Order: sequence, then structure tokens, then C-alpha cells
Amino acid sequence: LSAALDEAADWLRIAERVCVLSGAGVSAESGVPTFRASDGLWEGHRIEDVASPDGWDRNPLLVWQFYNARRANVATVKPNPGHHALVEMEKRWGDRFTLVTQNVDGLHLEAGSVNVLEIHGSLRQTRCTACESVANRGLEPLGDAPECPQCHGRLRPHIVWFGEGLPDDVWSAAMVAAHECNVLLVVGTSAVVHPAASLIPISKRHKAVPAKVIEVNLTPTEASAYADVGLYGPSGEILPKLMQRLG
Ligand code: APR
Repeated sequence: LSAALDEAADWLRIAERVCVLSGAGVSAESGVPTFRASDGLWEGHRIEDVASPDGWDRNPLLVWQFYNARRANVATVKPNPGHHALVEMEKRWGDRFTLVTQNVDGLHLEAGSVNVLEIHGSLRQTRCTACESVANRGLEPLGDAPECPQCHGRLRPHIVWFGEGLPDDVWSAAMVAAHECNVLLVVGTSAVVHPAASLIPISKRHKAVPAKVIEVNLTPTEASAYADVGLYGPSGEILPKLMQRLG
């Protein structure tokens, strides 16, 4: 691990632009369950019931119960040293650093990261199914059938469900960041959900010098085939060590 950390730090040191792709694993040490672990978030739920437009049409109450439980969980947790290390990393690169996250828990922003693209939306936001307005509601309790304060339409979580497209502007910005970076740090994601996972090959393709991909995860994943180096261990320990190496 020590040699791998040195190698990763060397690439970062000379990188002009850095992009991070994070997933549920980065929040695991905060106490937010991941999705695909045996005791994961989908356990006990059929994905199509709680995270798809059809599930929403069939039973919006069940969908809100699921997301309200997740909101209540996130309200009890704090960003961990992995989130904080990414805040430090952004300070070093400034606007040449982009953090693309699949997480909807908002913990990167809470930790203090600024240039964050929440490509799957946020648990802290609602969207009106009638007037489309998006509102920041933090983690306050919303009830099982929340209504739009403006038009009394039915509110839904502002989250990208299976079968839905990603918001165009956010996704374009993520593709640009992945394509332009010299180093892509892939942290705590199983890299099985697309299009998010396709940012990894995008960082390598169609450029004179492909990005170096650094994977931080407990185990190898679908991203490992693209990784130039793998740092295997908890991100809350690995990321601070990597920042320390960077100096
Ligand atoms: N440190 C680093 N990695 C970890 C840690 C940790 N402490 N704990 C778990 N992991 C890793 C797991 O090994 C796994 O590879 O985090 C990954 C979590 O994978 P998933 O549960 O599949 O989560 P993610 O990749 O973020 O899922 C992507 O799928 O369900 C949808 O929209 C949802 O955004 C989500 C997307």
C-alpha cells in the first residue's frame, strides 16, 4: 500500500486538473449504508418499487417512507475524514478540481467541498411534479405526502431514479471534468451504474495523454480494469494518508 500511495501522490503532484468520482463507500464510515452490500440499502426493498418512475406512480407513499428514512439517517451522521481529505484536495487545485458524486446524502457539501456535481440529485432537495420547482429542504421531516408550498402539487425527491436521465447540465459538466482531468480518483463506488461509471473510460479516451486512474475502495471493482493504481482500504483512512503524502 505504501508504494501505491507514493505512486498515486506522484501523479497527483504533477496533475494540472483533478476529478473525483465518489460513491456510497465514501460515506460508509459516516454510517450511511451502501447499496450493494449484503445489508445494503436495497436490502428489503425492490429497487423498482422505491427508485423508479413506475414505483412512484404505483405507491408514492412507500417511496416517501423510504426516502424519509434515508433523510432521517443522514440527519444523524457527520462527514468523515475521507470527505474532509477531499475538501483539502480541492483547496490545492481550486477551480481545476471537480468532485462528481453519485451520492445523494449531501455530505461532501456539508464537509465544505465547493465544486461538487451531484449527478444523482440530493436527498435534501424536493421537486414539484406539477410546477417542477426544486427546493432545498435540508433534512427537516417532510411527512409521507409532502405538497409544493407554491402550487400544492405533489413533491417528489429530487433524485435520479433507475430509468431516468441525468440532468443535462450537470452531466455535461461531469463529462468535461472527466475528459479534461489528468488524474481521476475513483472512490467508494462499485462502478456498475451507468452512465456514472462511464466517466472512468471517458477520462482515458480521445486524449493525447490518458488520465491516470486511482481507485480507492475496500476491494477491486468494475473500475479496477481502468485503474493505474489501486489503494485498497477504507477511504476514511486512505484519503487522509494520500493527502499527507502530497504534503
Ligand atoms: N471505503 C471505501 N470503499 C468502500 C467503503 C469504505 N469504507 N465501504 C464500502 N466501500 C465500497 C464497496 O466496496 C463498493 O464497491 O463502496 C462501494 C459501494 O458500492 P454501491 O453500494 O454499489 O454504491 P455506488 O457505487 O455509489 O452505487 C451507484 O447506484 O443504486 C444506485 O443511484 C444509486 O448512486 C447509486 C449508484
